[in-house]
Amino acid sequence: MHNKGKLYLDRQYEIGQVDKRIYSSMIEHMERVVYGGIYEPDHPLADEDGFRKDVIELVKELQIPMLRYPGGNFLSGYNWEDGIGPVENRPVRLDLAWIAEEPNHIGTDEYMKWAAKTGTEVNMAVNLGTRGADAARNLVEYCNYEGGSYWSDLRKKNGASAPYRVKTWCLGNEMDGTWQICHKTAKEYGRLAVESGRLMKKVDKNIELVLCGSSNTSISTYPSWDYKVLKEAYEVTDYISLHNYFSVVDSDMKDFLAGSIEMDRQIETVTAVCDCVKAKARGKKDVNLSFDEWGIWNREEMASRAAWKFDWSDKNAVSEGSYSFADALLTGAMLMSFINHSDRVKIACQAQLVNHLSLFNCVKGGKAWKQTIFYPFLYTSVYGRGTALKVIMDSPKYSTDKYENISVLDSAAVIDEEKGRLSLFVLNRDMENAVETDMIFRGFKGLKEVEHIVYHNEDLEAVNTAEQPDKVIPHRAPAGNVEGETYTAILEKSSWHVIRFEF
Ligand code: AHR
Repeated sequence: MHNKGKLYLDRQYEIGQVDKRIYSSMIEHMERVVYGGIYEPDHPLADEDGFRKDVIELVKELQIPMLRYPGGNFLSGYNWEDGIGPVENRPVRLDLAWIAEEPNHIGTDEYMKWAAKTGTEVNMAVNLGTRGADAARNLVEYCNYEGGSYWSDLRKKNGASAPYRVKTWCLGNEMDGTWQICHKTAKEYGRLAVESGRLMKKVDKNIELVLCGSSNTSISTYPSWDYKVLKEAYEVTDYISLHNYFSVVDSDMKDFLAGSIEMDRQIETVTAVCDCVKAKARGKKDVNLSFDEWGIWNREEMASRAAWKFDWSDKNAVSEGSYSFADALLTGAMLMSFINHSDRVKIACQAQLVNHLSLFNCVKGGKAWKQTIFYPFLYTSVYGRGTALKVIMDSPKYSTDKYENISVLDSAAVIDEEKGRLSLFVLNRDMENAVETDMIFRGFKGLKEVEHIVYHNEDLEAVNTAEQPDKVIPHRAPAGNVEGETYTAILEKSSWHVIRFEF
């Protein structure tokens, strides 16, 4: 017995152009993300610069356009100058965010080299914790100034004759959080951000700046922090950041699978804040959204993080683990949330790329393997480029203590008019029932199915591991037909789908 649902979409009802940067990720100097992740010089697959070639290939496969670097919490204690010049002269520094020793073998120039190899843009972050406007403007000069000044000539001396032309810059990280090194009040941070931003934009007027919004929705200062800091720094701000992580630990599975609804609300709330500040400032420019940390804490990483002592006896601690199939379903839904808000969400960085809360993991000296969440990210990144169309859903609903009237179906659609392609992403959150779903396409003539990729597993807790990397993978469904305007598919319980059409 199936439940029934309907999805309607109309070719004329556009939300906005999908900015490919919503398929970005993040690299932080922490645990094995850099050392043992992207960089492992004695690995059999290391290239001449010590970067793992298998990792570079995976970044290309995922078509990741941009990565945020170098943090994260690490950023707020980082001296970028420690990471340039001859490697043998670089200091080992104490990283007080993660209680670790940072060898500085990888710094700005090495990271830029890796970014060029992977074909990714850099979303560079400046330290507004222990540092400030001076270090920030110097880093812009080092990266982006043509030559003939102290820092730009030093870059040349260090081997990069052409400027890196980094376009997008984050003004610090999670400055609202008391855990942040040199945490600040909204007033303190807003002032520092605007003054730093002014200098950075004087060095290079082409850059765009991301202001730190709230680091999650449960912090007591959300969303007044966003309002206050934006009020101070509206003048220099192009994007405000949003962060959010979910976990099935401490949450009911039904609530967990509805996490993307919380993201929808978060995006809409922060958009309202941006518009309010713009209106009060009699401003002309819209501030857009950069969801520059999003992800899921899987069960194993939650457990290992809880056991951390956060003292020097534990300086090599890592939290690594496997994502479940349920985590993959929510990942698919979160990506839909970005597509459905593509009028305002221009950047989103899944956190993080490798080994920690990661899309894939690397065995030391061994192979790289794909997490369950790799697949929804891959297919959405590859097929979710074009213009987002509004999908109206008529779906069975459920309620939990946390959410009311949750639609069991969730969906997003992206059209590429030039290539004549339409991709529909659909989630069935119902853990007990399949949903026979009529998809009604208005304004499309001669629509044909290209493929239907199904991601389903009977066990929501099933995981991939280094030993069994292909346990949870998507498959192709038998071809279906579009009859008139309608395509019907039975969407199994707990399943995520990409249905691709051409016209
Ligand atoms: O685990 C990643 C960390 O989560 C980032 O460093 C920080 O910004 C966030 O709180």
